[in-house]
Amino acid sequence: MHEVSGDLISRMLDYAKKVAKMTDSFMLELLSGEPQYLYDASKHLILAGGKRLRPLVTVLAGRMYGLPEELGVKAGAAVELFHTFTLVHDDIMDRDEMRRGVPTVHVKWGESTAILAGDLLYAKAYEALIRVGEDAGDYDRGFAAIKQLTWSAVTVAEGQALDMDFERRWDVSVGEYLKMIYKKTAALFRTSMVIGALLAGADEEEIEKIAGFADNIGIAFQIKDDILGVFGEEKILGKPVYSDIREGKKTILVLHALQHLSEKEAEELKRILGLKEKATYEELRRAAELIEKSGAREYAEKLAADYVRRAEEALYSTSPKDLEARDLLWAVATYVIQRRK
Ligand code: IPE
Ligand code: IPE
Ligand code: MG
Ligand code: MG
Repeated sequence: MHEVSGDLISRMLDYAKKVAKMTDSFMLELLSGEPQYLYDASKHLILAGGKRLRPLVTVLAGRMYGLPEELGVKAGAAVELFHTFTLVHDDIMDRDEMRRGVPTVHVKWGESTAILAGDLLYAKAYEALIRVGEDAGDYDRGFAAIKQLTWSAVTVAEGQALDMDFERRWDVSVGEYLKMIYKKTAALFRTSMVIGALLAGADEEEIEKIAGFADNIGIAFQIKDDILGVFGEEKILGKPVYSDIREGKKTILVLHALQHLSEKEAEELKRILGLKEKATYEELRRAAELIEKSGAREYAEKLAADYVRRAEEALYSTSPKDLEARDLLWAVATYVIQRRK
């Protein structure tokens, strides 16, 4: 494995802060208009924080092939606006009341405004990408980037639909789970990095390699999200733990636990998952205990690490101009599975 020194990690985190600041300023520039309450609702989660991981990887993938940082940041803002839209609508679907340490948009403004705030963010993501094409003076590359974002918009919707379907099924396979998280989460990581490389004018072969890196990181990222959703610390995470259990989600942890617990304990876990909103905190805690007992946590951690290893292979098969950008991406990859939020 390529070494990740403490120095590389701290350089990555410093650079992440810098990119986040520039990204935020472009997103906020785009999010001004009337009526005020709609724009306030749209800006709510952006102002609350968030890791800004997707714009970071857009800028870095772009830099690998010579894209100026300013253009990478604008493209990154497009991806982050799209991501924020998915969060606003996801929290309605998942009935979650906290995100990034603050009340969710539908809790603060009601569902109708939250749906609209999501719609606005979705449209603004496209506005941002159109601006990138104009600023680059390259409409072909701009169009290619828009096409790529459109693919993820379609794919994420499909993934979110599968995620909901699986709530009502007990026979979800690991293969089906992987397809679902590829669509709901990895697709946007793929798009984030592909857009950066596309705008830089990287050739097809290089784009395929960087896309392979992104796919694997995206899958590892969602597996880690599933782990943190049961074993994370709510204060650090900024969103509720046990929400997946309450919604009866078929996370990798649940799939593993149902396969590996005794018949009696698997039945108990199923019963709690089926209670949905009626489950008490004690019952949710008991479900987490059963999941832990099944060895699902170790299994999922190993699986996520496996995908990071595959990502590493893809990343180090590229031929970038900017080697520092590549190494910073590698630091991001290792952060994805070590993170606590
Ligand atoms: C949350 O994404 C949604 C998932 C795809 C799991 P992040 O964990 O990147 O959320 P923020 O942007 O940092 O809040
Ligand atoms: C992640 O959904 C994917 C999208 C939001 C499109 P989740 O429901 O798994 O993510 P969290 O845990 O609420 O952030
Ligand atoms: Mg959710
Ligand atoms: Mg969800």
